[in-house]
Amino acid sequence: MFVTFEGIDGSGKSTQARLLADALRAQGREVVLTREPGGSQGAEEIRKLVLEGATDRWSPMTELLLFTAARRDHIERLIDPALQRGAVVICDRFADSTRMYQGLSRDGGAGLRPLVDQLHAAVIQREPDLTMLIDIDPSVGLARAKGREGHEERFEDMGVSMQARMREGFLALAQEFAPRFRVIDGARDPQSVAQDVLTTFTTRANEARQ
Ligand code: ADP
Ligand code: TYD
Repeated sequence: MFVTFEGIDGSGKSTQARLLADALRAQGREVVLTREPGGSQGAEEIRKLVLEGATDRWSPMTELLLFTAARRDHIERLIDPALQRGAVVICDRFADSTRMYQGLSRDGGAGLRPLVDQLHAAVIQREPDLTMLIDIDPSVGLARAKGREGHEERFEDMGVSMQARMREGFLALAQEFAPRFRVIDGARDPQSVAQDVLTTFTTRANEARQ
C-alpha cells in the first residue's frame, strides 16, 4: 500500500502520518514513513532549495521542475524499492501537492496544471492507493504552522488567502480522484483524527485485497 497525506500547511499531516506509522508498526507491518519534498538524499537537498528563502526565489516553472526532480529521485531510491518488498509506504505530501501549489495560479494568471499533468505522466506516473486529505480551516492551519519554529516558511509566507484557495483546490482534487481520496476532518484532537485515519486505512486495505 502506498498511502499519502495531503492538506494545507498546519492541517496535521505530519502528526497523522507518524501516528499511522506507529499504529501499523505495532501490528507488525513494515512501514516506511517519508515526506516530500525530500525522502531521499538528493531530494532532501532540493528541499532546502525550494522551502527556504524569499517567496519569489524561483519562478513557478523552475519550482515545478525542482519538485518533480526531487519526486523522481524519491521514487527511484526509496518508494519503489519499499513497495516492491511489500512495505507500507506512508508519504507526507506527494503529487497532489504539486497539482495544487504549482498547478493552481498564485498571481491570478493561468496556473501550470496542464504542464504538471504532462510532467507527471512522463516521469512520475505513480499514484497512491489511498490519499487522506486532512481538511481544516486555513486560519487554524496557518496559526498551527506558524506556531512551529523553523526556516521552511516560503509557502506559509504566501498568506492565508493562498491557503484558502489551496483548501478549496484540495477538496476539488478529492472529487477529481474520488476512488483513492478520503477527506478527514482535521479540526479535532490528534487522537480522534488518528482513530479515523486508522479505520480509513484498514477499510481501504481490505478493499484492495478483494
Ligand atoms: P502539517 O504537517 O500538516 O503541516 P503538523 O502535523 O506538523 O501539520 O501540525 C502542525 C502543528 O499543529 C504542530 O505543532 C502540531 O503539534 C499541531 N497539531 C497537529 N495536529 C493537531 C490537532 N489535531 N489539534 C491541534 N494541534 C495539532
Ligand atoms: P511541508 O513540509 O509538508 O509543509 P507543512 O508541514 O507546513 O505542510 O511542505 C512544505 C511546503 O512545500 C508546503 O507549503 C507545500 C510545498 N509543496 C509544494 O509546493 N509542491 C510540492 O510538490 C510539495 C510536495 C510541497
